[in-house]
Amino acid sequence: MSSPRDEAVEPGSDTVGPSTSSSSQSDATGGSIISVTIGATVPTGFEHTAAEEVKEKIGVDARISKDRGRIYFPITTDKLYQVHLLRSVDNLFVVVEEYDHYQFKESKEETLTELQQLASKLPWTDTLEVWKLNRTLKKKKGHRKGGNAAKVKPNSDASDAVAADAEQHELPQVSSTAEDQTTVESVPDLETCEQDSQEAAPEAKVIKFRVTCNRAGDKHSFSSNEAARDFGGAVQEFFQWKADMTKFDIEVLLNIHNEEVVIGIALTEESLHRRNISHFGPTTLRSTLCYGMLRLCKPQESDIILDPMCGTGAIPLEGAIEFNSSFYIAGDNNDMAVNRTVNNICHFQKRRADKGSPSGLPIDTVRWDLCSLPIRTSSVDIIITDMPFGKRMGSKKKNWDLYPSCLREMARVCRPSSGKAVLLTQDKKCFSKAISRMGGLWRKLHTVWVNVGGLHAGVYLLKRTAAVSILPLLIHAEGIFPKQEKYSTGSCHD
Ligand SMILES: C[S@@+](CC[C@H](N)C(=O)[O-])C[C@H]1O[C@@H](n2cnc3c(N)ncnc32)[C@H](O)[C@@H]1O
Repeated sequence: MSSPRDEAVEPGSDTVGPSTSSSSQSDATGGSIISVTIGATVPTGFEHTAAEEVKEKIGVDARISKDRGRIYFPITTDKLYQVHLLRSVDNLFVVVEEYDHYQFKESKEETLTELQQLASKLPWTDTLEVWKLNRTLKKKKGHRKGGNAAKVKPNSDASDAVAADAEQHELPQVSSTAEDQTTVESVPDLETCEQDSQEAAPEAKVIKFRVTCNRAGDKHSFSSNEAARDFGGAVQEFFQWKADMTKFDIEVLLNIHNEEVVIGIALTEESLHRRNISHFGPTTLRSTLCYGMLRLCKPQESDIILDPMCGTGAIPLEGAIEFNSSFYIAGDNNDMAVNRTVNNICHFQKRRADKGSPSGLPIDTVRWDLCSLPIRTSSVDIIITDMPFGKRMGSKKKNWDLYPSCLREMARVCRPSSGKAVLLTQDKKCFSKAISRMGGLWRKLHTVWVNVGGLHAGVYLLKRTAAVSILPLLIHAEGIFPKQEKYSTGSCHD
């Protein structure tokens, strides 16, 4: 086992720990600037996209963890606010300590004892300062008070999948002995104090905490439950914090992936992927995944971008917010889906207007059948959509008709030679067959394999070739969608 840095805080403090840092600089809140490592969970498959975004927006190189779906990057605390503005990250945490090759002991007892001993040896000081600063930033930003009492467990792909009320293509997760996750309050009988610790005098306030263990790997002699319980007990003893499963101030994370052990403190209460959507549907896609798909097709100024099967509008809404020099058309053949999209757009615009920000978004919503789009031939730059997998939406049998029809119609409206499509599906066999029967209208450029609600799916980047579509040209008289009912995003439907 590599030895932790010899920098533990004093135990028994009723505040989070002694103030620290020898830095002479100060951040926006007047505190000292500290250098720390931030960990972020990201949609599996889009780790490189997330690393690119970090480089672009924060200017640092991110490391991609062996444990797929995580990245790590260094920051100074004056950049902490920018970290929360990243579009590709789900949950954020600050790293207390990490071990690439932790040598677990043979027996369960020895391993758990060692985990207990670890709690008092860890370099907590700087990370607790970052946690405090993060809380100040969130209060300034107007986050809900006492928000750590969230229903979902942060920082876990597994828990997101379980707790999200309307997750994309979500299926029951098959539990595996090699992968588990447990949130443990180490001493449940202490959870009797109903007093809201936020309201108590801050200097006398007892910190409430919980430990969440995410474990993956088949060579461990212990479960995540046991690790969280024993490590949590030692953390509690060391800091004299109070364990509380739901109303915690601090969530300590114990991430174990084979030999890699990372201890962190959560900086997000719920996944940032929920940022845009207020009206969820049965297969709403995470905004972070939508962002990854949008980056794949590199939207350019004045591009016309179509999501012809928009569902709740998660993809075009993320596009209209983040790549707002393009124009988006969101369509679906289902009335409820169209209404949800309109409501999501309205709700987002209202939130912006309430904050005094410009609220207009470059997006329109239409009800249409994708197999016969009311759109001029060769008028669209990018098509980006999440196709029915045939699990929660549609059926595998129907896909054999739907996929070829929609690929042909997409090829008709998409500009030959320059047009692109980014299509997400889990029905890989049907999709590949349909593409091969398109007479060379589409060329596969790249595939990103992603995990969508526990399903292994492909995000296909396609290029529209110069080949001429053999379909009869359904040219309408004027405009891009002259004949169909167009839903105004100026008023909301329930
Ligand atoms: C997987 S869902 C899209 C989910 C969406 N990305 C979201 O975040 O909510 C697929 C959508 O395709 C729509 N759909 C299926 N067949 C269609 C067709 N022929 N024309 C238009 N939309 C269709 C369904 O109504 C459904 O909303």
